[in-house]
Amino acid sequence: MREFYYLCERRDGQAGFPLYVSHLRAVERPPVDFVYVRSIGTRHMSAFYREKVLAVRHWTDTLFSFRATRDTGFRFQNGQFAMIGLEIDGRPLLRAYSMASANHEEELEFFSIKVQDGPLTSRLQKIREGDIILVGRKATGTLIADNLIPGKRLLLLSTGTGLAPFASLIKDPEVYDRYETIVLVHGCRQVAELAYGEELVANLRDDELFGPLLADKLLYYPTVTREPFRNRGRITDLITSNQLFNDIDQAPLDLETDRIMMCGGPAMLEDLRKLFEARDFTEGSHSAPGHFVIEKAFVER
Ligand SMILES: Cc1cc2nc3c(=O)[nH]c(=O)nc-3n(C[C@H](O)[C@H](O)[C@H](O)COP(=O)(O)OP(=O)(O)OC[C@H]3O[C@@H](n4cnc5c(N)ncnc54)[C@H](O)[C@@H]3O)c2cc1C
Ligand SMILES: NC(=O)c1ccc[n+]([C@@H]2O[C@H](COP(=O)([O-])OP(=O)(O)OC[C@H]3O[C@@H](n4cnc5c(N)ncnc54)[C@H](OP(=O)(O)O)[C@@H]3O)[C@@H](O)[C@H]2O)c1
Repeated sequence: MREFYYLCERRDGQAGFPLYVSHLRAVERPPVDFVYVRSIGTRHMSAFYREKVLAVRHWTDTLFSFRATRDTGFRFQNGQFAMIGLEIDGRPLLRAYSMASANHEEELEFFSIKVQDGPLTSRLQKIREGDIILVGRKATGTLIADNLIPGKRLLLLSTGTGLAPFASLIKDPEVYDRYETIVLVHGCRQVAELAYGEELVANLRDDELFGPLLADKLLYYPTVTREPFRNRGRITDLITSNQLFNDIDQAPLDLETDRIMMCGGPAMLEDLRKLFEARDFTEGSHSAPGHFVIEKAFVER
């Protein structure tokens, strides 16, 4: 992260701006009239929005969520992620985070893991109301409704913090316009890890605007793998066995009508990809929409 940005200044010393290293590599020489000065210092934080933490909730010893102010200039599509983090010793320490809030909300919300010795989350888990977080100006990601070809049933398959982009998407009225049914599946090891999602769905069911939409269209299916619970098992097994569809009284997987978004651990995503490709589902992207899209909830370092 230390070399993420370089300071770029006008040759006459009048103006400066931060520039991505990747941009530097792409152009290989300074733009006309500009020189590169040095790698980032505190002056270059203008590359990020500095947002104030409004509330923090700890759900388990490994999960927490927080809300923060949102700059009116920060635009994103529901399901996207941005680089967020903290300023540590004058430098930005950033990681990718899905927005768990929807783009029509005034505040930002994030749902986060706590990694004991993780460079960012060992610190981020200690934030309190009034603290400042950095939010990168550019949002991106593949979990976008336009990356899927039209269908009737949308399966949102998540494990762990992979729920976050879907927390945003299930608050998007357009998603309810596009699909007849939306099935939100959240798989965790333990029951306590479901709490954020359970409360999210319960609150939406009580919401004046979303309540009627959810009642007609949203099916929520939490599942647990390492403790007793009403729904048990891995998402992969629940799909191949048809248990998921039986439990929610729905027709089995169908290439004609089903569109899928998935976000979770790398092993789960790989197994799901194989499962869907074996049934002729194709992966979609910005350039070519398909039957399913994938976003990693984290990368193994
Ligand atoms: C596209 C994308 C979106 C992401 N969105 C989120 C999000 O909304 N919420 C979130 O908490 N994280 C998210 N992450 C992961 C996030 O970027 C960081 O990895 C995480 O905040 C931990 O940072 P760290 O510096 O403490 O540890 P890191 O050095 O980044 O990670 C250390 C190890 O912890 C494990 N790990 C990291 N993140 C997770 C996770 N989320 N769930 C389970 N294990 C994990 C992995 O084994 C990893 O190797 C996302 C990652 C990507 C690529
Ligand atoms: N929480 C812990 O006790 C613990 C322990 C060791 C390491 N970790 C690390 O902590 C991080 C967070 O773990 P996590 O619980 O959020 O994520 P996770 O390990 O990916 O587990 C989340 C859910 O995904 C399921 N899953 C895992 N691999 C799958 C696959 N190939 N196909 C289908 N489903 C799959 C798990 O089922 P299963 O339970 O059947 O695996 C679990 O229900 C990970 O990086 C993990 O390595 C956590």
